[in-house]
Amino acid sequence: MAAGSADPGDAATRNPGRRGLGVDIGGSGIKGGLVDLDAGVLIGERHRIDTPQPATPRAVGEVAGRIVEHFGWTGEVGLTLPAVIVGGVARTAANIDPAWIGTQTREALGRCIPGPVEVLNDADAAGLAEVRFGAARDVAGVVLVLTFGTGIGSALFVGGRLVPNTELGHIDVGGEDGETLAAASVRERLELSWPQWAARVEQYLQRLERFLWPDLIVVGGGVSKRADKWLPLISHRTPIVPAQLQNAAGIVGAALAAAEDRGY
Ligand code: BGC
Repeated sequence: MAAGSADPGDAATRNPGRRGLGVDIGGSGIKGGLVDLDAGVLIGERHRIDTPQPATPRAVGEVAGRIVEHFGWTGEVGLTLPAVIVGGVARTAANIDPAWIGTQTREALGRCIPGPVEVLNDADAAGLAEVRFGAARDVAGVVLVLTFGTGIGSALFVGGRLVPNTELGHIDVGGEDGETLAAASVRERLELSWPQWAARVEQYLQRLERFLWPDLIVVGGGVSKRADKWLPLISHRTPIVPAQLQNAAGIVGAALAAAEDRGY
């Protein structure tokens, strides 16, 4: 793993552990950061660039390359996409251009990146970070990480091992797609109060609990910072805790996936 640049004087720079670089690609922003792979934290600041519109493989690949260049990084890079990724090929595309579907993401994103790349689903990456370093650290059994954002992402773990591409944000809830009912973006778009939105999340979670009996659910995304506003309002069977890595989860998980080279 090659070394990257970081702020001089930073504690992790003075005493570096294993490092990686993660890039989290979303519908509105592409964010990268250097990661201390032993501590599961960012080293220095994230670097963010607006997602180009339309978010085609070529345009997104160029921005990802600029982010990697910003860090002067030549080693392996982990990248996330809001898409099902099987054998490196995108099978869906949420909030990015449909041209991604059928694209070999490692080629498209690796074009402007000097080192090898690993690409995985964004929620899977966030989940990896929470399981390794965050709210589900040392939890045995079945763990489900849900990310509430523009959509709902899911990452399922059995004994710490990821079951990739679960797409549980799309379960049917009373004839409606789960994420259309209860994503965090729905609360903003419809200007719902916390109790109004919590009632929708409860419906979604209760439906999910009919199919899955996890030992723990971790709820992530921006709303996890305000979990006190809505989590206590929801009745559910499974223990639920807010995510801990906040907006670093995708970057940390992507860097981890690249370093571990599991081929998700
Ligand atoms: C997509 C998932 C993605 C999630 C979060 C959903 O709409 O289907 O692949 O993980 O949004 O971005």
